[in-house]
Amino acid sequence: MEKIRVELGERSYEILIDAGNLSKVGERFLRFPFGKKIAIVSNPLVSELYSETVFNSLKKEGFEPYMIIIPDGENYKDYFWAYHILTKLLELGFDRKSCLVALGGGVIGDITGFVASLYMRGISYVQIPTTLLSQVDSSVGGKTAVNHILGKNMIGTFWQPALVWIDVNTLETLPDREFLSGIAEVIKYGVIWDERFFEFLETNREKIIKRDKALLIEIIKRSCEIKSEVVSRDERESSLRAVLNYGHSIGHAIEALTGYSTYLHGEAISIGMVHEAKLSYLLGFFDKESFERIKGIFKSYGLPIEIPAMLEPSSIVKAMLLDKKNIHGKIRMVIPERIGKMKINFEIGENDLKRALNG
Ligand code: NAD
Ligand code: GLY
Repeated sequence: MEKIRVELGERSYEILIDAGNLSKVGERFLRFPFGKKIAIVSNPLVSELYSETVFNSLKKEGFEPYMIIIPDGENYKDYFWAYHILTKLLELGFDRKSCLVALGGGVIGDITGFVASLYMRGISYVQIPTTLLSQVDSSVGGKTAVNHILGKNMIGTFWQPALVWIDVNTLETLPDREFLSGIAEVIKYGVIWDERFFEFLETNREKIIKRDKALLIEIIKRSCEIKSEVVSRDERESSLRAVLNYGHSIGHAIEALTGYSTYLHGEAISIGMVHEAKLSYLLGFFDKESFERIKGIFKSYGLPIEIPAMLEPSSIVKAMLLDKKNIHGKIRMVIPERIGKMKINFEIGENDLKRALNG
């Protein structure tokens, strides 16, 4: 079992990664001061595949598990469904020692964390992420959120989990498109932090695409190590944590303008990372060869790299002006200086941005 510790003082926690450890999660719960009542929050698809294993593992160790199921999809990561979960917890008599388990992808992780942060002013929760994206990104770092009709992830809290429990065997059932969407976030860690990891992802592409278990554990571990280090140094994103947003400024604008239905998150940020690298190259901060390598790696994994033809650069810029990461209405982003190192909080002129988004 691989173990990574997220160092956050009294809110520190461990990320444990293995193949086939889902049935052992109950044993791990015994190390925590949780009460007997545990609610497993999931959706019908993931629940059908994995909840029985988690449920039985908890029951075997003497816990009293309950299932709370919400519909599958980003559209249900909202205040209404958060309220629904809160209502169930009250009906079931959950108290301050009770614990929640997020069993699913980033949608389930974000809403469960959000509810955990609110119920009785905050209770414990455990992340059991089952998509690659959630295993390498959303389950770590304590950002919780629900969507508002006026903006995605606009309502949320920072609330760290007590434990992140990753079983790579759950990735066996993940559709290819979802798997590759997670790979985009994995590649992100290479660009923002670790050139050797980037090279590793270039060299081992075939085995990774075939979901070789040992390699999956290795890339998830490295991704979680990098995210943990960043979060430990800047939990609340006052500065360094912004590196994790590489590709997201353009990517979020593309997702919003295409109604969150054309691209998966990882696909949109793949386009975003390529064009934010292009911007850095056009501004003279990044060399052409590195830009070509970034374009090349996303393409080789079958991820999209072109701005969709129906989107005008000016409309993308307009959407980017609404980004919650901007300050005083100026577009700020992180751009690469070289593979493995980023410029943070860089203010971008609208015309430069339009040049990078063109052709
Ligand atoms: P998701 O949670 O919607 O899961 C994608 C699909 O895969 C869903 O249909 C889900 O039911 C299904 N699924 C999950 N596990 C499966 C499995 N093992 N086998 C088969 N199907 C499975 O999407 P996602 O990409 O995991 O997460 C996206 C969400 O994460 C977004 O809401 C985004 O805002 C959020 N996010 C949060 C953070 C953060 O730091 N909190 C970071 C990145 C993304
Ligand atoms: N996914 C970006 C962050 O956790 O900060």
